[in-house]
Amino acid sequence: MTLILRNAHLLSGDANPDRAADVDIGIRDSRIEIICAAGSTSIAADREADLNGLLVLPGGIDPHVHVRDLGQAYKEDWSTAGAAALRGGFTTIFDMPNTIPPTENQVALEQKREAVRAAHGNVDARFWLGATDHTLIDLEAMLQRRPADVVGIKLFLAGTSSNEVVHDPETVRAVMRCAARHGLAVAVHEELQACLDAAETTGLPDHASAHGQHRPRECTVEGTRLMCRLAAETGCTLYLVHVSTEEEVAIIREAKAHARIVAEVTPHHLFLDEEILHRIGNVGKVNPPLREPRDVRALQQAVRDGVIDTVGSDHAPHTLDEKARPYHAAPSGFPGLETTFGLLLNAVNRGVLPLHLLPRLTSTRAADVFGLVDRGRIAEGARADLVVLDPAHKWTVDPVLFRTKARYSPFAGMQLTGAVVATLTAGVFVDYR
Ligand code: NCD
Ligand code: ZN
Ligand code: ZN
Repeated sequence: MTLILRNAHLLSGDANPDRAADVDIGIRDSRIEIICAAGSTSIAADREADLNGLLVLPGGIDPHVHVRDLGQAYKEDWSTAGAAALRGGFTTIFDMPNTIPPTENQVALEQKREAVRAAHGNVDARFWLGATDHTLIDLEAMLQRRPADVVGIKLFLAGTSSNEVVHDPETVRAVMRCAARHGLAVAVHEELQACLDAAETTGLPDHASAHGQHRPRECTVEGTRLMCRLAAETGCTLYLVHVSTEEEVAIIREAKAHARIVAEVTPHHLFLDEEILHRIGNVGKVNPPLREPRDVRALQQAVRDGVIDTVGSDHAPHTLDEKARPYHAAPSGFPGLETTFGLLLNAVNRGVLPLHLLPRLTSTRAADVFGLVDRGRIAEGARADLVVLDPAHKWTVDPVLFRTKARYSPFAGMQLTGAVVATLTAGVFVDYR
């Protein structure tokens, strides 16, 4: 055995705390070889670590990360994003295509793979391909090669951050049919550009606190309704990123009965409302915007009900200088990889979320939906991607300590109970406090 983790506390995967257990986990090379009751084995190993009953979950899979790099390496690159992911407990990240160049053809995809290789990081990378009104042939050509590192096709129904917009519903249908043929998911940024363009914004304050009125909720609700209809029509698996409103929750709850719909929530939509924008301004400017307290309540309920499947950070780094511009000129998005697990554990400690949902939200469901068969579960034979958590550790979010280049956060100064202690990828400790 290469490594034994002793006295690791595992969850049983359901709500029954009695079924949780302390175990020893034997790892050979990159795989989990054996899991047995704590202290029951005397197998020797090259290395041992006693976890003293700390909680161990499958390494996080974050389906929604903007790594940037290439033309936007000044905002973030694979080295810093990878380090941020591992610090935050995420061992697999799916990179979004709104990069420079966008991931819309084979050349751009190769460039991205090369950027990952050049960073020599330990995080496992997967890619979303980007769709436009004109790139269907390129997408089809890329998918014909059956790329194992591609999880699906992302489309944006509105402009949000250096991205292409798909305007034509016929293109949306064609993209969904194309993805379905290749057994892949379509992810969508749901806000509809035509709706945003029609929004009455004269007289609104030019300040981030009015961002939710500049980009009204109807636009994301309409987009979600449209996409759920098209998912039912095309049979495509639809991955709804950053669900933010009570109305979308109701639409998704209903649509799941007759379409393959998977819903993601971000930690910021789950735990913050727009009130905070008066204090933090553009730092909290994000698309879709932070919403109302009733939306936060509806999203938390939807997580508890299982209507929400995954948590995606929407890690979207920009420089602090860019965020310091006047409201209209400041880009939307902020980093999230290093706060997700702490925020979720904190919510468990506050009684907002049940602990047993954490693996589902942070890895298991994503592994199942996107066909990552070797991870997302702690089981013999699985890749030894693991995160060690201390649910009782108290800490304060301090962006100065972030690994990402974007050292600010809407959660800065927040005191959390529950923290990432260490992360292992493929059986190797890659980060620990
Ligand atoms: C994202 C970005 O910066 O790439 N910004 C954001 O506000 N969420 C794009 C996106 O996910 O919409
Ligand atoms: Zn988006
Ligand atoms: Zn995003």
